[in-house]
Amino acid sequence: MAKIAILGFGTVGSGVFDIFDQSDFQRKTGEVIEVKRVLDIRDFPDHPKKEIFTKDFNDIVNDDEISVVAETMGGLHPAYEFTKALLEAGKCVTTSNKELVATYGPELLRIAAEKNVRYLFEASVGGGIPVIRPLSACLQANKIEKIAGILNGTTNFILTQMIEEGSEFEDALSEAQRRGYAERNPAADIEGHDACRKIAILSSMATGDFVDYNDIPTEGICDITLNDVKYAEKLGSAIKLIGYAEQTDSGELYACVAPMMIKKSIPLSGVRDVFNAVMVTGNYLGDAMFYGRGAGKEATASAVSADVIDMVKTKTSAHPLIWEEGKVKMLNPAEKEWSYFVRTTADKTKIAELFGNVELISGVAEGEVGFVSEKMSEKEFAERNAQLGGAAIKVLQAND
Ligand code: HSE
Repeated sequence: MAKIAILGFGTVGSGVFDIFDQSDFQRKTGEVIEVKRVLDIRDFPDHPKKEIFTKDFNDIVNDDEISVVAETMGGLHPAYEFTKALLEAGKCVTTSNKELVATYGPELLRIAAEKNVRYLFEASVGGGIPVIRPLSACLQANKIEKIAGILNGTTNFILTQMIEEGSEFEDALSEAQRRGYAERNPAADIEGHDACRKIAILSSMATGDFVDYNDIPTEGICDITLNDVKYAEKLGSAIKLIGYAEQTDSGELYACVAPMMIKKSIPLSGVRDVFNAVMVTGNYLGDAMFYGRGAGKEATASAVSADVIDMVKTKTSAHPLIWEEGKVKMLNPAEKEWSYFVRTTADKTKIAELFGNVELISGVAEGEVGFVSEKMSEKEFAERNAQLGGAAIKVLQAND
């Protein structure tokens, strides 16, 4: 019998409990897996297994029978202190907590390696979609040249509602919150911070060393309007919030989070609703796409539970993952070249003077036109657009 514990009985934690309560993994692991303890500050007096709930972390960290713990609390504190204590006590830990992995990953992975236990975080990116393990296992022969992903279900849901229903941003956000997709603080979703943590984790997996999310320029979707959505439609494109990372030929890493206009011929543009998708380009494999439910109780619990099952089977790793800090060299974002969609009230002559002979799109808003610029560095674009005062969105092209 393997005994496990769950930290946090919120959306994901209760999903993990249900999976182990309702399923039998004995054939897969050779052992019955029992949830011995659930830590939560709240009372659950009507829960059929109310006796397993505790408010005292010591009931878990000091229990030698518990060998694997699922941390589904979210937030940095006390999740960090609890995870550290559990690893130091020789327990394997899995987490859905991207903020924790993106902030304290190097230290927690090092402690796990020193204690000869495992620290897994499949659910931290892409909810239920397998993407961390494919990067560390199936794609390990490749240099990961590029990652472009829809990494936040809430914003993808909101954009889908705007595109397909013509909903206003606020209405779509309320619906996402009602469905349990959004973070407790929706700013983390709509300002792009959640996607930023996730692309930082994917970049760390791709480079093999720690990529600090503070080094990743991040824009959210708060400034996207229904008019932007209409322009995108006229351009045969859709607007998506993209986490992007690229390893340059000179060995630098470029990463960003930004809303991007994507041609409908590119598969990412067709990813709707709460779904996430991660497009990974390996130097031998070429493009591979991982697609599925990126948020929500059962999808995320599925990935956490898979980590639990994996760690019940194998508690140590012969070659533990270590992320060294300060080794990854970041490209100056001002040097990265993009093509931009711009909408502006400037006149044709001014647009032509600054951006050349671009095709102008009108008929969306009175006195305004839109166009797509040629590719140029962010710095160059910022200088030209400063004279135009346009609102701009990056364009993701098939060969970016
Ligand atoms: N708020 C996140 C999202 C949850 O919407 O994708 C999963 O990380």
